Amino acid sequence: MMPAGALLLGYLLGSIPFGVILTRLAGAGDLRRIGSGNIGATNVLRTGRKGLAAATLLLDLLKGAAAVWITGVVFPGHEMLGAVGAFIGHLYPVWLGFKGGKGVATLMGICVALAWPVGLVFAVVWLGTLALLRISSLAGMLAAISAPVAAALFGRFDLVILFVVFALLVLWKHRANIDRLLEGSEPRVGSRG
Ligand code: G3P
Repeated sequence: MMPAGALLLGYLLGSIPFGVILTRLAGAGDLRRIGSGNIGATNVLRTGRKGLAAATLLLDLLKGAAAVWITGVVFPGHEMLGAVGAFIGHLYPVWLGFKGGKGVATLMGICVALAWPVGLVFAVVWLGTLALLRISSLAGMLAAISAPVAAALFGRFDLVILFVVFALLVLWKHRANIDRLLEGSEPRVGSRG
């Protein structure tokens, strides 16, 4: 019962589609019909509302971290299940017909909460790539790949397989972005696409 409760708690938090909610509340329309159609901060930015994009990034990150922290309080020892629930909830939210986001911000929050040094590496890789290339999808994928590597380097072998699975799911969710990257048509942050 406890593991199921931890999964469900994580899922309920992770499945809150902040990008869709904030965009609609701001009167900027249905995010799923804008740009890439993704529900994350990068696509919110394509509405031209920087503050909304920043809020989406922060809230998507915080819900991942909160899922781990709250699970740790309610179901001690089952934090990883809370993380799994939150990640799956963001990627496949029941409220949006299971068509959710690509997981980058939520995974960053999960990393920070499960092992902050891994979260730090994730943030440095993500921000560094973003600053250098201004391609959000590539930055997110590289950061996701860095998580299991960082977990191994910091001796958190209990997290390596979990982070490998999360990174594979991030890559799977970015398959359209990967196609665009390969053909050189992936939009850069700041451009409309
Ligand atoms: O975190 C999402 C980002 O990696 C890609 O978003 O809208 O460019 O497909 P988007």
